[in-house]
Amino acid sequence: MEIVRRVETLQDAKKNVKGSIGFVPTMGALHAGHLALIRRAREENDYVIVSIFVNPTQFLEGEDLESYPRREEADSRICKLAGVDLIFMPTADQIYEEDELCIGAPARRGYILEGEKRPGHFDGMLQVVMKLLNLSAATRAYFGKKDAQQLALITQMARSYFLSCEIVPCDIVRDAHGLALSSRNAYLSDEEKQRALALSRSLKRASRKVMSGERSVDRIIPEMEQVLDAVDRIEYIAIVDRNFRPREIVEIGDTIILVAAWVGKTRLIDNIWI
Ligand code: PAF
Repeated sequence: MEIVRRVETLQDAKKNVKGSIGFVPTMGALHAGHLALIRRAREENDYVIVSIFVNPTQFLEGEDLESYPRREEADSRICKLAGVDLIFMPTADQIYEEDELCIGAPARRGYILEGEKRPGHFDGMLQVVMKLLNLSAATRAYFGKKDAQQLALITQMARSYFLSCEIVPCDIVRDAHGLALSSRNAYLSDEEKQRALALSRSLKRASRKVMSGERSVDRIIPEMEQVLDAVDRIEYIAIVDRNFRPREIVEIGDTIILVAAWVGKTRLIDNIWI
């Protein structure tokens, strides 16, 4: 496995690649959720690239850019064991120039929910993903459904900009208790981890309601709020269609239920696709 820090070295390494390239972009602190993406990329492609880059442009002022967990050695070991061919671990000066060109998130889908709570986050995320997709020359790129809105925007970007890369959505990976895996779970104390289970439990409660015949968003959301009593602050609960348009009535096969909430100093998101 090669570890590459410079753009030119990555371009050189790719010259020898034959066949399809599977790409998994990450910000590191790899967990079983990332591993599931890497395994799928390994199964479906001849060559696998993982990028590890804590992208400064997608963090807002006051967010956790400085404290975001960085574990280069452990991440490299995980990638090696998972059969990754190349890790791209650039510094910011390799990725960005002064007076950068920006890709803006779309007006409606990009500025609700996460985009409303974290204005500018999706612009920075799309900017780096565009760069990384081009640099990796990926045949397929793998993204988790946990960041559902991110996934929708990247899929739209690939379509709008006629990228040849296929965007592959991958299921959310949860721990044994139901907590959706996230690098930010590392911030949670044991007590907070217990309370954080309210997110997945509220989604389970919503899905059980739907399965037992309830379709009204106005009746499902209060049920979720009850379960979410355990968190410190609910940022949003939303029920949308797969295009992120708000729903009044749940339609099976075209609905995502999302929640964002604070537990202690940690902001968590989770969702379920119905
Ligand atoms: O989901 C993430 O970890 C990041 O947003 C991504 C896609 C690697 C871009 O920095």
